[in-house]
Amino acid sequence: MIYTILKHSHMTLALLSIIGFVVRAYFSFYKPELLKIKVIKITPHIIDTFLLITAISLVLLMDYGLANWILAKIGALVIYIGLGIIVIKQIGPIYLRTILTFTAVLMFIYIASVAITKQVVPF
Ligand code: HEM
Repeated sequence: MIYTILKHSHMTLALLSIIGFVVRAYFSFYKPELLKIKVIKITPHIIDTFLLITAISLVLLMDYGLANWILAKIGALVIYIGLGIIVIKQIGPIYLRTILTFTAVLMFIYIASVAITKQVVPF
């Protein structure tokens, strides 16, 4: 029961996280002034914090330990966050940030696929 609630919260938060990223990436290219709005700045941090809390709770609850697919998810999450920071903080030329935006989305798809298959190479 608690597992189902946690898992669905985790998946919902993951969805909110990628929506938040895509919206802010769009703003960073076309409406950078909107990125200064407090709620747009803070909400993604709250979502990502809860995403991590639910992730850690699921790992502990299911006794997954540091299985390879969990490590793959953590590694890919670090890359996803790093790419996100570069894009949102508008570091580097626009063509590079465009590539990094798509790479971050691919990273997200990879993380979700690893979660579903529990395989490091899910495709
Ligand atoms: C952007 C980041 C993440 C995304 C998109 C994501 C996505 C998902 C999805 C879609 C599921 C449901 C899989 C299913 O169908 O059963 C899931 C479950 C899970 N995720 Fe994540 N996740 C993310 C981050 C993490 C991280 C960082 C960890 C580990 C520290 C983690 C640990 C888990 C665990 C343990 C489950 C439950 C697996 C099960 O028992 O079926 N997730 N995640």
